[in-house]
Amino acid sequence: MSTTPPTFHEMWRDLASIGRDPDSGGYRRYAWTGADADCRAWFQAQAETRGLTYEVDRNGNQWAWLGDPAAGDAVVTGSHLDSVPDGGAFDGPLGVVSSFAALDELRRRGVEFTKPVAITNFGDEEGARFGLACVGSRLAAGQLGVDKACELRDADGITLPQAMERAGYDPTGIGPDPDRLARIGAFVELHVEQGRALDLTGDRVGIASSIWPHGRWRFDFRGEANHAGTTRLADRRDPMLSYAETVLAARREAELAGAVATFGKIAVEPNGVNAIPSLVRGWLDSRAADQQALDTVVAGIEKAAREYADRHGIDLDVVRESFTPVVEFEHALRDELARVLGASTPVLGTGAGHDAGILSASVPTAMLFVRNPTGVSHSPAEYATEDDCVAGVAALADVLEGLACS
Ligand code: GLV
Ligand code: MN
Ligand code: MN
Repeated sequence: MSTTPPTFHEMWRDLASIGRDPDSGGYRRYAWTGADADCRAWFQAQAETRGLTYEVDRNGNQWAWLGDPAAGDAVVTGSHLDSVPDGGAFDGPLGVVSSFAALDELRRRGVEFTKPVAITNFGDEEGARFGLACVGSRLAAGQLGVDKACELRDADGITLPQAMERAGYDPTGIGPDPDRLARIGAFVELHVEQGRALDLTGDRVGIASSIWPHGRWRFDFRGEANHAGTTRLADRRDPMLSYAETVLAARREAELAGAVATFGKIAVEPNGVNAIPSLVRGWLDSRAADQQALDTVVAGIEKAAREYADRHGIDLDVVRESFTPVVEFEHALRDELARVLGASTPVLGTGAGHDAGILSASVPTAMLFVRNPTGVSHSPAEYATEDDCVAGVAALADVLEGLACS
């Protein structure tokens, strides 16, 4: 190691201003933008200051290795540094910063590493720019085809390969990376909790059991643009009405099934105050504890949307843009985490998606959650206390020591 590595506090401070909007106080760290480049530069500097071997894989994911990357059976930890629009400081960065801090802690303990250890920053986990979550890990795991990835476009029509190229990365090699994933013996992602389960049990740290199946669907309601002042109500084909009724149906269907359904993003054309819209495009995010409940919710929402659309003379297209099946984290690794952290450590399911969920189809994965006192996430109000973050680092260090050291 060339210099004394920055502390958790110093790393947190250095990341704090990157991509933060001064008005909202939220983070806008979208894939392959300037803020993303600054986060990536920060990651590379953290790797280099610790004397770790730095790599970027064919899909733009960053790696910092202690030991021989090719040796196999590596213990890998990390998360992501990108954000949702006006996201919080913790979702993603807490896992990456804690990974570096946990490695520093293990070096302080003077442990002997018997396996290679790596820290990762997976690219475009939130999917805020191109609409698909976990692009970096999905590509690596072969869960996103290259053709489909090349068709992804942002709101300005820029494709994913164009965005990568503009950011200085070669997009021609994107695709499955089985050899790299085969080097991994275990992947552990630490993440801020995105609910209040730990606050309610009074625990600082928990272990993940499963991730709910979830997906994103695009609803295109097409009507007829017309004058907002002169068009009689009876003569209108206003897609906003069908959209609004569909939002209410989503709430109803989700309540009936004990699931969640959210229209959180909308695009309107022509988007004029005094024009009846020609198009309302709404994106549905829906999640449920099991596949059957999710299928029921989405089918119910689509049926209601078609009925409303027919009534108002609206054409409707529904496209499933992404889907992630239920993830049950590997029991042996989960039990190992419980053994290290204590049998009373809470084991929690979550409705949030993660790179660890994507990778679980290819490698043994596990997750640690750090208490979030309000449960708020995907918002500038997202929070974890410094003491809980420190407890998370200690837990991650203990877990890594159990997995990678003699
Ligand atoms: C990612 O955070 C997601 O669950 O959407
Ligand atoms: Mn998130
Ligand atoms: Mn996250």
